[in-house]
Amino acid sequence: MDQDDLEERTAELQGKSLGGWGLLQIAGCTGLATYAVWAGILMPGFRKVPLKLQVPYIPASSQQVENVMALLKGRSGKMVDLGSGDGRIVLEAHKRGFQPAIGYELNPWLVRLSNFYAWKAGYHRKVSYQRKDLWKVRLHDCVNVSVFLAPSVLALLETKLLAELPDEACVVTGRFPLPTWAPSNIVGEGVNKAWAYDLKTVRQATQKKAQESAV
Ligand SMILES: C[S@@+](CC[C@H](N)C(=O)[O-])C[C@H]1O[C@@H](n2cnc3c(N)ncnc32)[C@H](O)[C@@H]1O
Repeated sequence: MDQDDLEERTAELQGKSLGGWGLLQIAGCTGLATYAVWAGILMPGFRKVPLKLQVPYIPASSQQVENVMALLKGRSGKMVDLGSGDGRIVLEAHKRGFQPAIGYELNPWLVRLSNFYAWKAGYHRKVSYQRKDLWKVRLHDCVNVSVFLAPSVLALLETKLLAELPDEACVVTGRFPLPTWAPSNIVGEGVNKAWAYDLKTVRQATQKKAQESAV
């Protein structure tokens, strides 16, 4: 390639280079595409949920599911998973005898996927996946509750659970502990760690603390 060719090629490439407007268009399109994936696929149904309460979908590993079941061993009755994702914890709870086993999940794709997995496993209509905002469901008759949510929402969740759950309830959290409650049992290590909370004990401790601070 001689000098003339080289200059010609360089001029061509310079002619094709992106201006500020081109870059702005690319940035805009990328932003829109990211928002579309976020709003349409990852977090549909979350428009009415305040941003600080939005928790993305990260499914529990089989060891995490196993640890939840270990902490609920010997218990029975109604079991709910708050933010049930693809329904794996609810399905396992049903297999272990919890009835009814219910998942509350806002993402409609995940609710459909949960129903598909339940059908595939032969448990169609045996488990219930409801497209509901977990902050709006009443939990007064839930005696077994599992929670795999982000630490940012757990303080608010403590308040809701304390106000609504009966004394017989047991709450199991995975990945993160509840910020102020004392667990009655812990299993697993690292990311697989799970914590169990006995509502009666937590309620008594909370009342005692309130009485002490009133004195
Ligand atoms: C970390 S994932 C856990 C999924 C499932 N529990 C598991 O462990 O496999 C949290 C789930 O909660 C759902 N979620 C977050 N906020 C919610 C809300 N306000 N109401 C119902 N579901 C919610 C998300 O869509 C997501 O699927």
